[in-house]
This record gives sequence, structure tokens and C-alpha cells, in this order.
Amino acid sequence: MGEAGHEAAVEQFRVSVVGSGNWGSVAAKLVASNTIGHPFFHDEVRMWVFEEVLPCGEKLSDAINRTNENVKYLNGVKLGKNVVADPDLENAVREANMLVFVTPHQFMEGICKRLGGKIRSDAEGISLIKGMEVKKEGPCMISKLITDMLGINCCVLMGANIANEARIAFEKFSEATIGYKHSKEVAQRWAKLFSQSYFLVSAVQDIEGVELCGTLKNVVAIAAGLVDGLDMGNNTKAAIMRIGLREMRALSKRLFSSVKDSTFFESCGVADVITTCLGGRNRRVAEAFARTGGKKSFNELEEELLQGQKLQGVSTAKEVYDVLSHRGWQGLFPLLTTVHKICIGLLPPSAIVEYSEHAPNFSLFEGSAECY
Ligand SMILES: NC(=O)c1ccc[n+]([C@@H]2O[C@H](COP(=O)([O-])OP(=O)(O)OC[C@H]3O[C@@H](n4cnc5c(N)ncnc54)[C@H](O)[C@@H]3O)[C@@H](O)[C@H]2O)c1
Repeated sequence: MGEAGHEAAVEQFRVSVVGSGNWGSVAAKLVASNTIGHPFFHDEVRMWVFEEVLPCGEKLSDAINRTNENVKYLNGVKLGKNVVADPDLENAVREANMLVFVTPHQFMEGICKRLGGKIRSDAEGISLIKGMEVKKEGPCMISKLITDMLGINCCVLMGANIANEARIAFEKFSEATIGYKHSKEVAQRWAKLFSQSYFLVSAVQDIEGVELCGTLKNVVAIAAGLVDGLDMGNNTKAAIMRIGLREMRALSKRLFSSVKDSTFFESCGVADVITTCLGGRNRRVAEAFARTGGKKSFNELEEELLQGQKLQGVSTAKEVYDVLSHRGWQGLFPLLTTVHKICIGLLPPSAIVEYSEHAPNFSLFEGSAECY
């Protein structure tokens, strides 16, 4: 930033991470390794921790600051000495002008209510959150919720990044996509904050496309998990992934005409569909659901299998279903519709491959990729 003699006069960007689950902790580690010693950024990264008491009686935030590890959500990975866990939300964001939002999506509206009027006027945001809110007026992406409620510009970062495999935490190569609306310069600043030799970040001017990819792929992952639980094999799973990607693209373009086809070939698109359908908690819990024949609910399985981590795909499937039924589009999106009906017990898990009756009206002889 500027020539050496001017550096002291120029204010450094200060980063806070709002959220400290599995991905939140990896995000804090990633950005902290870039802020330290960088003239552009203040060293310290504050990470807001939703306070919990560990079985040993210690508070999670104290344990993180004592061990430099998030012992509950990312055990065994040092976050970096410049990460400070802070259980006080307002205090955690007070000084920051770069705010990284990374909590399960259902908590964001409440968090924004608490933060209204409490953040710096020059703050910029980026959302790593996958999910949407459904309002009477229609779907509201989380970046828009943040912009509307906090009055700040908000980019998104999505991609083939499953944190609980701990691969990114252990610095195995992966990629991510930033989606931005107006300012390329701001997107580049976010890319600078997140990029590492093992974490390649590119930016596209298609915020809705990037965010919808990240959101809708969790519903496709539920479908893939059901296929696994029914032992249907890789051909079926590949078919489900393709149909899912086609529905993701078609729905995104129907909701926002600005969405670009090319976005689906970025990390946030096809790559995230693949990784989420091969690994990831949505696939895993849906597999268990199918193996129990739907006898245990997703809520029970989430509690049993995820130890405090949150499942996004089931709530997103409901939100997507609400959007589809409000517009009368269920018939056009059989996979997205069927996943929700299976999740709430209206259809058995095996319905995930019963497409002949529900398929939209297109000619198979001309291929189905462009059927919408
Ligand atoms: N984990 C991944 O692999 C991954 C990858 C990419 C994106 N994401 C997205 O990142 C976001 C955060 O996921 P995560 O994996 O960091 O979280 P997580 O599911 O691992 O952990 C849940 C978090 O929610 C917190 N929490 C519980 N109750 C709360 C409340 N009432 N209010 C606020 N917070 C509460 C918990 O303390 C914990 O930090 C999600 O939107 C997810 O879709 C996750």
C-alpha cells in the first residue's frame, strides 16, 4: 500500500470473522495467515464465538484463546496467534472494516438485528454463508439480507471447500469463487485477503449466480446421499448430480436474469456440486436417512451425527420448495421438489429416482441440458 514512507499514515484494513464453526474457523485461519505482517492489513483477526460451555466446564472462547485451536469445531488445527476469539458480538466487529460472515444461515437475520448501527460506516462485507431467507416478496439471498439490514456492500465467497475434511485447514490445494456486484477493486481486496498458494480465489461479476450455486448444491447433496443410502451406485449418482446442476442453473436464471452460464463452471458451480455429493455432511446425513428407511428424522440424525454442526440442505430444500410453489414451478424442478418431499416424509427415499412421471416437458431426443 503506497510507498514505504507513506505507510504509517495510511490506515490498515481490520478484519473480523463473524462465526466460528467448522468453516468459520478455517476462514479465520486462512485470513489470519494473510493479515500477519502485511502492510495492507492489521495483524489481528477477531473471531466472534457463539459462546458454549465445553463438557470440561471451560468456555469455548477461553479454550480457543488458551490453545489457539477451536477445540470443538476444528480440533487439532492452530488458527494463528493473531486470531482472537471474542464472545461479545458488538465488540468483535467494532473496529473492523472488513467483515467476514460465516454462520449457519438461519442465525444471520438475528445477528444483523444485533449489529444494526454498531459497525463502522466504511465497512465492507463478504458472506461465506450457504442458504437463503424466503420472504413474502420472494427469496432473499444472505448477501442481500446483510446489505439491506446493515447498509453495507456485501460480496460472497463460495466454492468446493468442505472444511470438515480438514483438507483446507491442512493446506491441501483447492479453489474458491468470489461473486461481486459492482466494484472489482473491492472484490480484488477480498481475493487478496483469502488467497494462498493452496487456495486459489478468482472473482466473477455475478453475485447471485455464485451465491445460488453455493446454496442450491446442498439440496443436490441430499439427493446424492439418498442415492448412496439406497446403494444405487455411481451411474445413478452422476445422473442425479447432472440433473441437479441443470436445475440449479435453470432456477438461478429464472430468479435472476443476470446469472451467467459460465459461473456454473467456476469452483462455486460444478466443482462444489461434485465435492458436496462425494463428501460433506448433507450427503452423509441423507445417506443415513435412506438407510433407516426414513424412520429417523433429519433432526435426529443431525443431532446424532454432527455434534453441534448444522445441516443446511434440509432447510434450504424447504426454502427452495416455498419459492417454487409460490411461483407454480414445482413441475419444472422435479429433483429440487422431490428432495423436500422426501425430507418431510411425504415421499419415500426411493422417489429420488422416479423421474419419468415428474419430468418437465422436454424432448429427450434433443438432449435435456437446455430444456428450460
Ligand atoms: N463446513 C463447511 O465445509 C462449509 C464450507 C463452505 C461453506 N460453509 C458455510 O459456512 C456457514 C457456517 O458453517 P460452519 O461449518 O462454519 O458452522 P458449523 O455447522 O460447523 O457450526 C455451527 C456454528 O453455529 C454456531 N451456533 C449455534 N447456535 C447458534 C446461534 N443461536 N446463533 C449463532 N450461532 C450459533 C455454533 O457455535 C457453531 O459455531 C454455513 O452457512 C455453511 O453452509 C460451510
